[in-house]
Amino acid sequence: MRRRECLRRGLMATAGTLAAGPASRLLAQSSAATTLVAASSQREIWPGQPTTVLTLGDTFPSRTLRVRRWDLLDVDFRNDLREATNIHWHGLPAPPEDDGHPMDVVLAGGRRSYRFLVEEPAGTYWYHSHPDGRTASQVYRGLAGFLIVEDDAERALGLPAGEFDLPLLLQDRRRRADGSLTYAPTFMDLMAGMLGDAGLVNGAPQPVVEVAATSYRLRLLNGSNARVMRVAFEDARRFDVIAGDCGLLDQAVAATDVWLAPGERAEILVDFSGDPLGRTVRLVSAAFSSGGPGMGMGGGSAQGALLPLATFRVSAPGPPPARLPERLATVARLDPARASARRRFVMDMRMPPGPGAFTINGLSFEPDRVDVKVERGVQEAWEVVNLSGEPHPFHVHGTQFQVVRRSGQALMPHERGLKDTVLVWPGETVELAIRFERHAGLYILHCHNLEHEDAGMMLNLEVR
Ligand code: C2O
Ligand code: CU
Ligand code: CU
Repeated sequence: MRRRECLRRGLMATAGTLAAGPASRLLAQSSAATTLVAASSQREIWPGQPTTVLTLGDTFPSRTLRVRRWDLLDVDFRNDLREATNIHWHGLPAPPEDDGHPMDVVLAGGRRSYRFLVEEPAGTYWYHSHPDGRTASQVYRGLAGFLIVEDDAERALGLPAGEFDLPLLLQDRRRRADGSLTYAPTFMDLMAGMLGDAGLVNGAPQPVVEVAATSYRLRLLNGSNARVMRVAFEDARRFDVIAGDCGLLDQAVAATDVWLAPGERAEILVDFSGDPLGRTVRLVSAAFSSGGPGMGMGGGSAQGALLPLATFRVSAPGPPPARLPERLATVARLDPARASARRRFVMDMRMPPGPGAFTINGLSFEPDRVDVKVERGVQEAWEVVNLSGEPHPFHVHGTQFQVVRRSGQALMPHERGLKDTVLVWPGETVELAIRFERHAGLYILHCHNLEHEDAGMMLNLEVR
């Protein structure tokens, strides 16, 4: 069989295939069955200006899915767009045929099912479209939403729930005179990524969020194409970071800001119980130098500019704030000393942003070439190096990993849990402990700056 056929055969799942397999079906406690239709429609993002957006589940941004651990995620997907698309379940190690590999797309008018067992503990995940070369454009126009996993262990902690649990999808978009989300990156945008001057939270420009005077669980997801966010309250209030990309930390960590690259998540507990009724406080992405934390204030680049996100207004009395448990979870940690293979990934880019300009280990994405082969169950030590002048969020499909060390700084609070995306600043080296244990098959790793990814900063990775 030719290489191309091998790859495609591995990739293409026919609609109706029980991806999770019979064993998983028996294990599944229930099924979170949903239909998601990718469609184009009109929404009013900015008052008085209809905007053409892409929707999944008829909402902008895409519908929030909540599943329970050990559920069978069962999505009947239909593509009513005029372009190919697919869904990737960012952070959950889905079987390869359900993972939304960029070459595994649903053509315009097509449909398929995505079905797999959710084995991961509670956490804030997300899903988005992922077709090769079109991910940036589609996510920009709306094909991204939350996928929240819940479980009993988490429920027992008594964290703020229901109306006190707010998923906030943070994005920047470019405000155009006609109110459109036209995706037309310039030469500069292709280098730095598509940065916007308008902050959107759950699709709304700088919304006012009415809150009660009590504690809230905020699930922060940076769903921007390229903007790194330094999320903070304008009055620099302290909050507790309780979770990172893939679920709860062992213990909460107090902080006044949290750095999130595109693709990353963090959950925080913030307490408004000390605020008088009527007080407002803005949530922003605070200014920073695009060289990274500790590099002084911004050098005027759009990447580190202050971006207002939302205004919280304390408008009603609330129940007593939730008590923060001493221990939140036991993170399933790898011992970095036990790695039996080492690998190094060098991320680089050069001018002009044409073919071959965005590379990992000197390679740009080639659909028919497998670049990385890993053995299932073998723990590895990865070193990710950024030789360029732009930050790159390094993201891996098919597993979760741990950040062991950064050359430039200490680990950030949300990096103490399991992760699937890690920000590598210019000149920095980040060490990871990683093991693929769930499924064999073809995955990818890539930069989660979506312009960089679409330009080829992505490699095929095969788990054997
Ligand atoms: Cu959220 Cu391959 O990406
Ligand atoms: Cu992903
Ligand atoms: Cu990049």
